[in-house]
Amino acid sequence: MKNYYILFILLCFLSCSKNGQSEKKAINESDEKYEVVINELLSKMTLEEKIGQTNLRGTSSRAKTLSEELKQQVREGKVGALLNVMKTEFVDELQKIAVEESPNKIPLIFARDVIHGFKTMFPIPLGMAASWDEDVARTSSRVAAIESSSVGIRWTFAPMLDIARDSRWGRIAESPGEDPYLASILGKAYVEGFQGDSLNNSTSIAACAKHYIGYGAAIGGRDYNTTLIPEPLLRNLYLPPFEAALNTGAATVMTSFNEINGIPATGNEFLLKDVLRDELSFDGFVVSDWDSVVEMITHGYARDEKHAGELAANAGLDMEMTSKAYENNLKALIKEGKVSEKQLDVFVKNILRVKLRLGLFKEPYRDVANEAKFYEKTHLEKAKEAAIKSTVMLKNEGVLPLAKRSKIALIGPMADAPLDQMGTWTFDGEKEQTITPLNAFEAADVNYTYIAGLSHSRDLSKKEFKKAIAVARASDVVVFVAGEEAILSGEAHSRASIDLPGAQENLIKELAKTGKSIVLVIMAGRPITITNVIDDVDAVLMSWHPGTMGGEALQEIIFGLEEPQGRLPVSWPKTAGQLPYFYNHKNTGRPANKKDYVAMYDIPIGAWQSSLGNDSHYLDVGYTPHFPFGYGLGYTNFKYDKIEVSKDTIRFNEDITIKATVTNTGTRTGKEVVQFYIQDVVGSITRPVRELKGFEHVNLKAGETQEVSFTISSKILEFTNNKLVKAAEEGDFNVWIGPHSASGLKSAFYLKD
Ligand code: GLC
Repeated sequence: MKNYYILFILLCFLSCSKNGQSEKKAINESDEKYEVVINELLSKMTLEEKIGQTNLRGTSSRAKTLSEELKQQVREGKVGALLNVMKTEFVDELQKIAVEESPNKIPLIFARDVIHGFKTMFPIPLGMAASWDEDVARTSSRVAAIESSSVGIRWTFAPMLDIARDSRWGRIAESPGEDPYLASILGKAYVEGFQGDSLNNSTSIAACAKHYIGYGAAIGGRDYNTTLIPEPLLRNLYLPPFEAALNTGAATVMTSFNEINGIPATGNEFLLKDVLRDELSFDGFVVSDWDSVVEMITHGYARDEKHAGELAANAGLDMEMTSKAYENNLKALIKEGKVSEKQLDVFVKNILRVKLRLGLFKEPYRDVANEAKFYEKTHLEKAKEAAIKSTVMLKNEGVLPLAKRSKIALIGPMADAPLDQMGTWTFDGEKEQTITPLNAFEAADVNYTYIAGLSHSRDLSKKEFKKAIAVARASDVVVFVAGEEAILSGEAHSRASIDLPGAQENLIKELAKTGKSIVLVIMAGRPITITNVIDDVDAVLMSWHPGTMGGEALQEIIFGLEEPQGRLPVSWPKTAGQLPYFYNHKNTGRPANKKDYVAMYDIPIGAWQSSLGNDSHYLDVGYTPHFPFGYGLGYTNFKYDKIEVSKDTIRFNEDITIKATVTNTGTRTGKEVVQFYIQDVVGSITRPVRELKGFEHVNLKAGETQEVSFTISSKILEFTNNKLVKAAEEGDFNVWIGPHSASGLKSAFYLKD
C-alpha cells in the first residue's frame, strides 16, 4: 500500500504550490490524481481481488470474537467493506490485516447505520423534518459523524430520502416527509453534516443516499411492497431529494428493496445507469440493501443466485451488501461472458475512488485523537434544541404553557420510556443517557406526581387506572405522555391501524371524566390518529421519538421556556382509511368541497341515490386530513396581510417576487414558518393543487410586523411531463403565502412564453 500512497503524495506534491495555499485545491484537483492511483492499482489486482472489493460483509455488532475465516478473507483481499463491526479493537485489527497483509494493501471501509445520532440521539428524521430547519439536519449528522468516526465508522447508511405519503409505513419514521422541496433541503444538509467540509477529514463519514428509489410508495404502506411509479411522478416527486444529495457530493447510494413497475431497484439498469450515472453524473458507488441482490429471486426476477448476480452486475450495482451472489458467481459470469470484466473494473474504480476521497489510503486507521467524546454537553444541547424545533403543537385550548407551580399529574406509558423515546435505528444509543419527561420534571423541581397508568404502549391492562385517576383528581392538570414503542416503528413495522396502541385511549377518556385539563404528548414514529380522543384533551404536542434530550425539551415547552416550533412534514390523517394522503394531490375532475359534502350521519334515511355531492370524498371522514401538511401552533398568533406579486405576467427566465406581511398579534415573542406555495393551474399533465416552493423562519416580538418575500424564476416552475420533457409551461399560476398548506393569502401571475 505504501508505494501507492507515495505515488499519490508525489502526484499531489507536484500539483501543490510552495506555500501550500493550493493544498485544498490540490485535494480537490486530486480526483485526477486519484484516477492515476486507481488505474495503477487496478492493473495489479487479480479477478478475485476485484470481486473482493464489491463485497460488503455483514457482521454482528454483538460478536464477541473475530472469526479467523473473516480475517483470512480480508487477508486475501476478498472483502471491500464491513458492516456493524463495533469493537474498536476489531476495527483496528481488520484494517491492519487489510493494509499490511492483503495483496494490494487496499483499506477497508467500516459502515454502520448512523441515522439520527450515534450515541447522542437526535429526534427521528421525520421529527427533524418537522423542524423545517436545515441547520437541525446538518448539526445532527455532524454530531453523529464526530461520534461514530471516533470508533472507526467512516460510512453511514443515511440520509434516507424516501418521500412518504402513507403513515402506515413503519419507515416513515426515517423519512423526510411527503414533500420533495423540503426533503431536498434536508437531504443536502444531512450530506453536508455527515461528510463535513472534506470527506478525507477523519471526522467525516461517507453519506449514502437511500433507498433508491420509490421505497415509500409501497402499496398499502406495507414495507418492502410493490411500487408502481410512472416516470413523470418518479422524476417530479421521488428523484429530487436524491438529486439534491448527489449534487451535494453524497459519496454512495443504496438501492431499495422494492420493485418499481416490475423491476427490482437492485437490478434496474435504467435507474442505476441511465438516470444515476448518465443523467446525474454520479461517480461514487452504489450498494445494494441487505440481501436485496438475492431477493430478486424471491421477487421472481432472477432464476437463482447466479442469475441475480448477473442481473445486478449488468444493471450497474457496484457493491453487494451481505449476500454473496457476486462472491460466488462473478468469476464464472465473467468467464462465461455474461458479465464483462470491464464492468467489474468500473465497480472497483467507483469503490476505490470513494476510499481515496475518504483518505483511507493516507490514514486507514481511526484517529484516536477523536477518541470517543460521546454525549458532549454541546452535542446534548443541540439534540435538545432539535427536539424543541421538531415538536409540533396540534391543539392548545388555552392550557399551555403551564404555570410553573402547577400541580401536574404526569401519566402515560411514554413518560418514562428511555429506550423507546430514542425511536428506531438507535442501536448505539444508550437508554441510560436518555432524559425522559419524568427525569426532566424531577430535575426541574416541577410540582408533579407520576404514575405510568400503563406499563408500555401496548399495555391493555386497566389495573392501574384507578390510581391514575386518583392522581389526576389530586392535580391541577394532566400531562399524558402517549405514543408507540420504538419497535412499533421503523423497518418492517407497518401498522394497518395507527391509533394509539393498547388501552391508552381508554385511559385518556377515563382521565377526561375527572374534568381536569389534559395535555396529550405523543411520542411516536409516525402521525397517530387521535380522532377518538381529540375532544377529550385540551392540548396536543407531537414530540415524534424525540431522542436523548426529549424529556428536557418537553419540559421547557410545557412551561413556556421554549415554544413548540415544528410544522408537520406529513399530512396527519383522521383515520388510516384515508391513506395514502398528501397535500400535493391532484384536483381530479370532481374535487370535494364544503358546499356539497354531506357527512354520513347527516344523510337522510332513504336519501335519493344522487342526492349527495358526486365528488371525491369519504362519506364517513370527509376529504381533509386531521391536520394539514405544514400545520403547527406556537404560543402566539400571526396575521398575514397584503400579498403582492411584483408582476402580473412574467416571461421565461424572468424572476417574480411574491411578498406579504406577517404580524405577531399575540402577547409574546413567537416563531413562525412562513410558507410559500404555487399551483400550476393547467399543464400538459395535471399538476398538484399546491406545491411548496419556499419557506422562511421568522421570529417576531409581540405586535411586530415583518415583510416576507419569495423570488422565483420559471426554472422553479419546471416539471417533467408525460413526454419526459422537463420544462415550465405557459399559463396561469396561483400562489399562496401562509402558515400551512391549507390556508394562506392567495394571488396569481401568468407565465408567458
Ligand atoms: C436494512 C435497511 C437499510 C439499512 C441496511 C443495513 O435492511 O433497509 O436502510 O441501511 O439494512 O443495516
